[in-house]
Amino acid sequence: MFSHGAFPDVRPRRLRTTAAMRRMTAEHRVHPADLVLPAFVREGIAEPAPISSMPGVVQHTLDSLRRAAAEAADAGVAGIMLFGVPEVKDAVGTAATDPGGILQVALGVVREEVGDALVVMSDLCLDETTDHGHCGLLDERGRVDNDATLARYAEMAVVQAEAGAHVLGPSGMMDGQIGHVRRALDAAGHRDVALLAYTAKYTSAFYGPFREAVESGLTGDRMTYQQDPANGREAMRELSQDLAEGADMVMVKPGLPYLDVLRRVADEVAVPVAAYQISGEYAMVEAAAEKGWIERERAIDETLVCFKRAGADVILTYWAVEAARRADRIEALAEEVREAGG
Ligand code: PBG
Repeated sequence: MFSHGAFPDVRPRRLRTTAAMRRMTAEHRVHPADLVLPAFVREGIAEPAPISSMPGVVQHTLDSLRRAAAEAADAGVAGIMLFGVPEVKDAVGTAATDPGGILQVALGVVREEVGDALVVMSDLCLDETTDHGHCGLLDERGRVDNDATLARYAEMAVVQAEAGAHVLGPSGMMDGQIGHVRRALDAAGHRDVALLAYTAKYTSAFYGPFREAVESGLTGDRMTYQQDPANGREAMRELSQDLAEGADMVMVKPGLPYLDVLRRVADEVAVPVAAYQISGEYAMVEAAAEKGWIERERAIDETLVCFKRAGADVILTYWAVEAARRADRIEALAEEVREAGG
């Protein structure tokens, strides 16, 4: 039917024949400057404490956090996102607005260590500091009170900015949080502190290991404030709101199950877009790799480049340091290949 030699006319495989060809034609690559390392710091421990559901990730002491920040800067990672775990939690999250609270102290320690070599970010949310584990204050019927929570976020923002954060990440999904926090920062003179808005944040089973990491006391769920995984269009509503309120960057979270949302957001905006590869995504890969069911490094690198392909400018990942080093090594290998003439 087809004359031999004339078919196929189009052969995409030609561009896949050698490593050099594939490298040249790759549409996306992961660079250390794309990566942000989320890190946990626990008050009142003498040694870093392993997180069993996140093998390789620890709750840091202030000392080990300092070293981790230096290591991240050394690897060329772009930034670090800090989560504080206080010794004492209460209904209103007092530790979150105490200048001596663990997150604020950690911000100071990290800034002292790295200066401006990393973008130093902090989680702006109450769930790490409240005994009930919700992201906001509860009213007398136990519901999360949006506007009372905004007042707490405003106080937190100023305290975190004063402690040295370059960027704040409001992650509690309260309506109006970006505008409210922005006004509080500006009124306190922190006009240069930027906001990374958790724009599309879904209620997700994949946050499971994070609950261990921050010793969350959460009972129940976050369905009245985080988005329903069934909703894509709703993310665009959250997006226009956050941009109108002054978000400097926007984020989609979780990562892999929400690449469609990431793509929609990235197509829409003129601000940098971040994706958060969360604790459960990390745990899945580590667990399967430990069983020998997948190739760990290949799986990690594949997930990261997929975020880039879907439109992420910035990726928050617990593998940031490892992936940054590997990205550099891949370039070093390419160099060797060039020197050897292929
Ligand atoms: C809320 C917050 C959460 C995560 C980051 N910020 C938990 C939640 O919303 O339930 C999850 C991050 C992860 O799972 O890696 N402060």
